[in-house]
Amino acid sequence: MKYTKYLSLIVLLLVVLSSCNKDKNNPGYDYMGDHDMYYTKFYKAYSPNPVFRDSMTNQLPVEGTVARGSMPFPYPTASIGDRAVNQALAGVQLINPIAATDESVAQGKELYNIYCKVCHGPSAKGDGNLYTSGLFPAKPTSLVEAYVQTKPDGEIYYVITAGSISGLMGPHGTQVQPDDRWKIINYLRSISK
Ligand code: HEC
Repeated sequence: MKYTKYLSLIVLLLVVLSSCNKDKNNPGYDYMGDHDMYYTKFYKAYSPNPVFRDSMTNQLPVEGTVARGSMPFPYPTASIGDRAVNQALAGVQLINPIAATDESVAQGKELYNIYCKVCHGPSAKGDGNLYTSGLFPAKPTSLVEAYVQTKPDGEIYYVITAGSISGLMGPHGTQVQPDDRWKIINYLRSISK
C-alpha cells in the first residue's frame, strides 16, 4: 500500500516521458487528431472544394462589395446622352470626401501636374503644351473660369472619371485613383479666378 504512491508517480513519469519524441518528423500521438483539432483542412486557391456549392475554392466577393480605396461609379458613360445626364446627376449625388486642407491641395497640385497640365496648362487656363504645340487639336477648357468653377465637385469628378460629354477629353478614371481625383478638384478650387 505504501508503494502505491511511488508506483503511480512512476507510471505518470512514464506517460509524460513517452510523449517526448526524438524523431522530429513524427508528431507522435495526438488527441482527437482526426477532428480538425490539430490539422486544418485547407484548400489551395485553384483546387476543387467540396464545401462550396459550385465546388470552387476561389469565391467571388459578395455582391455590392467595395474594394478599399475605390468608390462606386454607378453612372453609365457609353453615349453622349448618357454622359450629359449622368454628369449632372453625379454633380448632385457625389460629395467630395477629402477636406481641402493645405496638404490635400498640395497633393492635388502634384497630381494635376502629372495628369492634366499637359493639356490644361501650368495655370489651368487651357494652354497646355500638347495643345499649343498643335499635337492635340481640341482646345482644352480653362479650369479657372466660372464655367468650370461653378460646377459642383461631383461634376468635375465625373469629367475626370468618364471624360467630357462630347468625348473630346477622354476618361482618366483608370489612371487617376478616386481619392486623387478629389484632391485635384481641391487644388482647382484653390486657383479659381
Ligand atoms: C489630352 C488632353 C487632356 C487631358 C490630359 C485632360 N483634359 Fe480636361 N479637357 C480637355 C479638352 C480638349 C476639353 C474640352 C472638352 C469638351 O469641350 O468636350 C477638356 C475639358 C475639361 C473640363 C470641362 C468639362 C465640361 O464639362 O465642359 C474639365 C473640368 C476638365 N477638362 C478637367 C480635367 C482634369 C482635372 C484633368 C486631369 C485629371 C484633365 N482635364 C485632363 C483635354 C484634356
